[in-house]
Amino acid sequence: MDAFVIQGGKRLRGRLRINGSKNACLPLMAAALLTDQPVRFSNVPNLSDIRNMIRLLGTLGMDITHDADARTCDARATDPGQIEAHYDIVRTMRAGICVLGPLLAARGKARVSMPGGCAIGDRPVDLHLRGLQQLGARISLDEGYIVAETPKGGRLIGAHVFLGGPNGSTVLGTANVLSAAVLARGVTVIECAACEPEIEDLADMLTRMGAKISGAGSPRLIVEGVEQLNGCDHPVMPDRIEAGTYVIAAAITNGEVTLENFPTRHLMALIDRLNEVGVSVEREEGNDITSMFNGAGGTSGGGGSDTVRIAAQRHLKPVRVVTQPHPGFPTDLQAQMMALLCLADGNSIVTEKIFQDRFMHVPELQRMGADLSRSGSSVIVSGVRELIGAPVMASDLRASAGLVLAGLAARGATIVNRVYHLDRGYEKMERSLCSLGADIQRIDDAEL
Ligand code: EPZ
Repeated sequence: MDAFVIQGGKRLRGRLRINGSKNACLPLMAAALLTDQPVRFSNVPNLSDIRNMIRLLGTLGMDITHDADARTCDARATDPGQIEAHYDIVRTMRAGICVLGPLLAARGKARVSMPGGCAIGDRPVDLHLRGLQQLGARISLDEGYIVAETPKGGRLIGAHVFLGGPNGSTVLGTANVLSAAVLARGVTVIECAACEPEIEDLADMLTRMGAKISGAGSPRLIVEGVEQLNGCDHPVMPDRIEAGTYVIAAAITNGEVTLENFPTRHLMALIDRLNEVGVSVEREEGNDITSMFNGAGGTSGGGGSDTVRIAAQRHLKPVRVVTQPHPGFPTDLQAQMMALLCLADGNSIVTEKIFQDRFMHVPELQRMGADLSRSGSSVIVSGVRELIGAPVMASDLRASAGLVLAGLAARGATIVNRVYHLDRGYEKMERSLCSLGADIQRIDDAEL
């Protein structure tokens, strides 16, 4: 297994372009099952989760090719007889559940492995299933598989669907129900829909395919079902979590970094917290972020991208961070933000409201000298003067990113083991960071 050896203490400087979004791309690719016409994606990131989704769609009768250099993916569903998403693939990637809605709507039947447990805590799919049932699907469980059928093998039926759960809406659940509703008979209203930009991007693609959707980006989606969808060309939106991670990488090393293809509108909660900490994120031309938020910046799908410059003050102020559904602070940036706050002058509080147990990075950061104390779903982060390099264990994608950032700032060498987690969601992260002046080596841990 690969590990990163990071020699900390290097200030990051330079320019980087943000890649296409993993979490947008996965449900987008699954939605290509909704048509037998060709669908072409551009700005596709080259990540193991994307390769696994391609593998899964291949088993579902799709001709699909990925040109990693050109960042394109061409997909065409050619064998509608395939309806089973196997455990072997779905267990590697929870987003495999995204094929459920499209398979059901397009093929009348689906058999999809229940996704397994996950390092970030309990991740049920009850809301996905309830939403699809409200559209008329008959759903049962069989030997670890979700078996779903449309009424009499025909079309689903538009309905009023509520997707709120104990922790708010569900992102992939909204993707599943939305993708199913576009081919249902009649009108579907999805209340308490996820407002995440990745859902806006999905609605954008479905609209290009001929779907009739209004309200994307709001908690109320209205879908007028159509009989069939066409192919389309769709550029995947920039990855707001990759972008946020590299902003924090610049901040934690007291660096000066410029990021291109930066989805400003989707990162307002992060920018707000960083401004409070003493990190500025400014549009390259010098306009302030507020003008970008008002629509002055950018054009790409789901709401704009910009070129921004990040600069940090030497002394970081402590802040309170609470993760929330979009447009609140994203849970997928909580670990990275915590790494930064470890070096603030004073006590910060980080509260996790989406996945209450998503704190696997806490004991690892403590190994690097962080002063952290957990109480339920909050962690008190008492700033320390410095972090000290240590061997640490990555446990999930974003926790791993938090550890890499801590390693960039730490004195001495940090070894981050099991970086296959990172490879699921960050394209060649070590190369990107090294291009900014970081000192990171990827090694096989057998060499250690
Ligand atoms: C998506 O997961 C993302 N994954 C996650 O990113 C992200 O952390 C999460 O949304 C929240 O933003 C992908 O897009 C592939 P949810 P998802 O359903 O859709 C509860 C990463 O690191 N819930 O919105 O699976 C659930 O337990 C990954 O890139 C139910 O109760 O998350 C959680 O508390 C990790 N019942 C909350 O809702 C359900 O049926 C939000 O989860 C579904 C979810």
